[in-house]
Amino acid sequence: MNSLLQDIERLKKEKNAVILAHTYQPGEIQDVADFVGDSYGLSVEAANVSADSIVFCGVRFMAETAAILNPSRNVILAEPDAGCPMADMINEEELRKLKEQYPDYIVMCYVNSTAEIKALSDVCCTSSNAVTIAKKLPPDKGIIFVPDKHLGSVVQEMTGRNMYLWDGFCPTHLRIIPSMIVNARKNYPDAIIMIHPEAEHNCRVLADKVLSTGQMCEFVKNSKHSVFVIATELGIMHTLRKENPDKTFIPLSDKLLCPNMKKGKLENVKRALEGTYGEIIKLDSVVASKALVSLKKMLELSK
Ligand code: 13P
Ligand code: SF4
Repeated sequence: MNSLLQDIERLKKEKNAVILAHTYQPGEIQDVADFVGDSYGLSVEAANVSADSIVFCGVRFMAETAAILNPSRNVILAEPDAGCPMADMINEEELRKLKEQYPDYIVMCYVNSTAEIKALSDVCCTSSNAVTIAKKLPPDKGIIFVPDKHLGSVVQEMTGRNMYLWDGFCPTHLRIIPSMIVNARKNYPDAIIMIHPEAEHNCRVLADKVLSTGQMCEFVKNSKHSVFVIATELGIMHTLRKENPDKTFIPLSDKLLCPNMKKGKLENVKRALEGTYGEIIKLDSVVASKALVSLKKMLELSK
């Protein structure tokens, strides 16, 4: 083990800290994490952490979610500049206006949103439970879905619900274009093509499976197939190859990199543990307690 890895292991013990990492993080960071998962898995894990500190390797909304779900822990965002452009595509004022326009609608927010947006929402969701949750909401009610119009349209297609979709999107997943999938199908006729729900409809319809990152990992583990084309952020290639050494994974494109997820550096994880880098997440207590209601509703309805 090199000295950086030894330092990280030592500091984790000394500080009674755990490292949580999203599957889009660089492989070397996934390898030092105590838990690697999708947004939903990370939320459940964060809620149950008993260690004093959580060093979060992901983007801001994920660390905020961990701090809301487990407020007595010290949550440190390892890369303070790592945001999610989609989460910043709607602000409080815009959502308030929308609620006034559609006063009877239920507000459902994707976890890729700020704490303030979660606080104004009735229920939160991730890409792995959005459909399940929407099916459990009162059937006579319309749903305002923010901020991702693509995940929102998946929910609409799968449930037939009356929905208002905010115009947000993930710039990384929008790099996927139909010709990439058509070419992958031609080049790898035996492969299963898996795509993330943040991709556009005209791409999703060409793939075999529309799955969140956690669902992709689960599907591959239980599948008899051996070749998979992966249409999501490239970090997941590390997770999939590590968990399934006997299977083959082909990235749809080498352009599917989230610049914010790729800010993660191992040296900064060490510094975050030392307390010389990273940002301790501090949230307004009223915002945090309101956001907790929508997150708890998500956890309850995803069972
Ligand atoms: P999941 O982790 O829910 O698959 O979402 C992907 C994502 O874009 C997180 O930012
Ligand atoms: Fe945000 Fe897209 Fe990056 Fe996820 S992959 S953090 S949705 S920009």
